[in-house]
Amino acid sequence: MSGNTQIVHDAPAGLEGVVVAATSIGDVNGAKGFYHYRGYNAVELAAELTYEQVWYLLHNGQLPSAAQLAGFRDQTASLRVLPEAVESVLPLLRADDSVPLLSQLRSAISVVGAALGWIPWLGTSPDERAKQALQAVSITPLLIAGLVRGEDVSAGAPEFGIVGDFLARLGMAVTPEQTRALEQYLITTIDHGFNASTFAARVVTSTGADLGAALTAAIGALSGPLHGGAPSLALTMLEEIVTAGRAESWVQQKLDSGERIMGFGHRVYRGTDPRADFLREVAMKLGSPRAQLALEVEEVILASLARHRPGRVLATNVEYWAAVVMESVGLSPDLFTPAFTMSRMVGWTAHVAEQMAANKLIRPSSRYVGPVDRPIPVGA
Ligand code: COA
Repeated sequence: MSGNTQIVHDAPAGLEGVVVAATSIGDVNGAKGFYHYRGYNAVELAAELTYEQVWYLLHNGQLPSAAQLAGFRDQTASLRVLPEAVESVLPLLRADDSVPLLSQLRSAISVVGAALGWIPWLGTSPDERAKQALQAVSITPLLIAGLVRGEDVSAGAPEFGIVGDFLARLGMAVTPEQTRALEQYLITTIDHGFNASTFAARVVTSTGADLGAALTAAIGALSGPLHGGAPSLALTMLEEIVTAGRAESWVQQKLDSGERIMGFGHRVYRGTDPRADFLREVAMKLGSPRAQLALEVEEVILASLARHRPGRVLATNVEYWAAVVMESVGLSPDLFTPAFTMSRMVGWTAHVAEQMAANKLIRPSSRYVGPVDRPIPVGA
């Protein structure tokens, strides 16, 4: 038992079911299989609106008028510029190709923070914080493209929104349907409650640290396979299944050896993940051979998981179909989690702005369970 008299209760492992803050950015209702941004059904937003409209919504609390949207598109397009100091560092960050792209991106964000003068947020004005939030979101696709290509990516496509511009800077020739599919995927993953990376960003911001510190912490949290690192692993799994020839025995063998099937199960959803349902439709509309295979394999995996854990619903999560959509758009697997990062930047920056606007240092306690009152051995 801890000697700290302020402790009022123990939180469950993984903080499952614990409310740690109030937010007006969005919410996830696991029981209903529903999530929203600022009160709007997020899947409907992805089906009907553009990335810039939803980005504006997250940062401003309401959807833009036509004039506001035009101004926002111009403003954010003008922020798609790499500072010189960052341009010169990108080749160094990508020099060692054993360093994953996401780690390179994480380091690049630190350099951006220094280059753009992102000072600690304690004592900054809301306007300054809002400006930095737009800079962070706008510049991330350029960092990814620069790191992937190792060449000048300054020639973008300002006539496009940020998603089309991203694909142009990657040097990819894609159809409007592919661009729209990626845009829809990115809208679905902009925000999703108090997930690990959002929480990490808010914890760092609560100390009054700078935006770069909060975002690098968030990227670190996102990198893990239990969070944002799953989509490329889901694709690897599909490839292994094709090689093995039989999905059912492949899945059974993994489950028997205690492995998790990537792209299935969720902390909050106990039924269907609405993002998976939507992205399945998006993937099927793109019509790649992989989508058809993924559909057949999904059925086998769901049946195997139901047999394996009869008491717990383990349904398809966002990452399974995200992988299929991104592959069908032509992105290579090392780009999957960086692309996810690009969209989550919108959510993270909205959350840290909200955190700072009514800040209290996030500093929970722990329960000490080790030995106590140990005498130091003589001669130690
Ligand atoms: N494959 C096989 N078993 C799974 C599983 C999966 N994808 N997801 C959960 N389980 C099992 C666990 O092994 C555990 O079994 P146990 O009680 O015998 O140990 C049980 O279900 C509960 O898992 P737990 O990790 O406590 O649940 P959680 O709510 O903390 O986990 C995830 C949520 C997402 C971390 C988990 O479902 C997972 O690891 N999924 C695979 C990775 C993934 O797709 N990540 C992207 C998330 S969007």
